[in-house]
Amino acid sequence: MSEAPVIAIDGPSGSGKGAVASVIAERTGFGLLDSGALYRALGIAAHRAGTDLTDPREVGLLANSLTIEFGLHGPDSVALNGEDISREIRTDLGSLMASRVGAIAAARAALHDRQLAMRQQPGLIADGRDMGTVVFPDAVLKIFLTASVEERAQRRYKQLIAKGIGAILPDLLRDLQERDERDSQRPVSPLKPAEDAIVLDTTDLTLDEVIDRVWELTVERLPALA
Ligand code: DC
Repeated sequence: MSEAPVIAIDGPSGSGKGAVASVIAERTGFGLLDSGALYRALGIAAHRAGTDLTDPREVGLLANSLTIEFGLHGPDSVALNGEDISREIRTDLGSLMASRVGAIAAARAALHDRQLAMRQQPGLIADGRDMGTVVFPDAVLKIFLTASVEERAQRRYKQLIAKGIGAILPDLLRDLQERDERDSQRPVSPLKPAEDAIVLDTTDLTLDEVIDRVWELTVERLPALA
């Protein structure tokens, strides 16, 4: 049997890729890989262990020793060595640590095979930064979602306020700019569209409009799903 088809959805934080990926996974019945959650889990583990992030060997050893499981404690949950860390990985610390470990080649190498293992029939929706460029270069469809950093900060602000969490817009903007900079300037697997990716700027689109467009592209590439 040929390899399961992969749809890669990459882009910076706040571009809406997570929300789009989960709807497309539901509609297709494909599995969902939230690769950011793997980096977040590793980041939290490194923080807890006090791992020296300047020592690639230490980071690699840690990454290879962890059990990271999706769905163990309910849908969308992420477990680290059996412990539910779903909330902890979404904190500012989780974002910061994920972006820092994501810049380390040994960490990326250690997480590579775990990501490949998620490719199973009937298919996979892979959400991240380097799904189309590095992890699944043969993806049947590669989407790169972007939006202006101001718009992405606004979206994050509204999400936090809706959850009753206090937030300061200029701080969110600065954090996003720093994270974009680190994710796109790193020498290993930088955040950038694959040459054959379809780039969608979502600045002036609603989430539903983005989903409609991605769904159109999905059934164009995989007509059996229509
Ligand atoms: O998608 P996210 O916001 O959950 O990702 C958190 C961080 O993890 C992001 O700033 C960079 C890193 N990351 C990565 O380096 N490669 C991926 N494929 C996914 C995430």
